Amino acid sequence: MHLKDKVALVTGAAQGIGKALAQVLLENGCKVALVDQNGEVGKACKDAFDKQFEAQRTIFLPCDITHEDKLKETFKKAVNHFGHLDILVNNAGINNESDWELTIQTNLIALIRGTYLGLQYMKPENGGNGGAIVNIASLAGLLPAPQQPVYSASKHGVVGFTRSLAMASTIGNYGVRINAICPGYVNTPILQSIDKEENMGQFSAYKENIRDMMKFYGILNPNVIAEGLIQILEDDKINGEIMKISTKQGIHFQEYTLPELHAKKLESIL
Ligand SMILES: NC(=O)c1ccc[n+]([C@@H]2O[C@H](COP(=O)([O-])OP(=O)(O)OC[C@H]3O[C@@H](n4cnc5c(N)ncnc54)[C@H](O)[C@@H]3O)[C@@H](O)[C@H]2O)c1
Repeated sequence: MHLKDKVALVTGAAQGIGKALAQVLLENGCKVALVDQNGEVGKACKDAFDKQFEAQRTIFLPCDITHEDKLKETFKKAVNHFGHLDILVNNAGINNESDWELTIQTNLIALIRGTYLGLQYMKPENGGNGGAIVNIASLAGLLPAPQQPVYSASKHGVVGFTRSLAMASTIGNYGVRINAICPGYVNTPILQSIDKEENMGQFSAYKENIRDMMKFYGILNPNVIAEGLIQILEDDKINGEIMKISTKQGIHFQEYTLPELHAKKLESIL
C-alpha cells in the first residue's frame, strides 16, 4: 500500500505507542483521525501535530471505545470528515487486573467491534477501497504473564481473532489485510500502572517480578513499533501475521505450523 494521502484511524492515539503510530503515518503522508478517551491529552497531541503537519491532516475525536454507540459515531465522523477509510490501527489498551472486565472490554471487545466497523467502511462490496487493519497485541498475547493474567488473556484473544479473521478475509475477499503487532515492554505511561495497586489488584505483590522481567527483556522505544507498522502497511503480501518486536530480536514474525489435516482443509478453501 502506498501511504501518501491514505486515511487512517488510530485508537488510543493521544500518547504512548498510539501517538508514535499516528506520527509515523503523518510522516508518510497519511491523514489521521486521532481517537482517544483522554480529551486533554488528545487535544495537546493534536496541537503538537499541528506544529509539524498541516492542521487539516488530523482530526481529534474524543471517544471511550468501550461505548458501542460512541465508537460507531466516531468511525462515522472520521469517514464523513476524510471521505473514506484505508487504515485502522486498534491500539487503545489498558493494564488493569482489578477491573479485569474493563480490561477485556477495552483490549478485546472494543478491538473486535472496531475491526468490524473498520471492515464495514473498507470492504469494496460496501463501497470502500479495501485497506489494512493492524491490531496492537503484546508478547503477553503469546506467552503466559502470571502477574497479568487477564491482560494476557485479552492479548491472546487479539492474536487469535487477528489470525482467524485474516483467513476469513482471504476466503471472503474482504480486500482488507489484518495483522497484529506484539511488542515487548515499551517506554510509555502504561508502564506506570504496574506500581499502582488499583491497577494490579491481587497481583501487586508481583511488582518486583515485573521489574526483573523488564530488566531481562529491556524496554523498547515506541518508534520501533512505528517502524513495524509501516513495514506491515507497505507490504501487500502480509496478512494474518503476528509481528513480534523485542529488544533482543528486533522486528520479526511469529512462526507456527498447523496440524497437517487443518492445513489441508484451509488450503482447499484459501
Ligand atoms: N507499553 C508497553 O509496554 C506495551 C507493550 C505491549 C503492548 N502494549 C499495548 O500497546 C497499546 C498502547 O499502549 P501504550 O503503552 O501506548 O499505553 P498508554 O497508556 O501510554 O496509552 C494508551 C492510550 O489509550 C487510551 N485509552 C485507554 N482506554 C481507552 C478507551 N476506553 N477509549 C479510548 N482510548 C482509550 C488512553 O487514554 C491512552 O491515551 C495497548 O494496547 C497496550 O496494551 C503496550
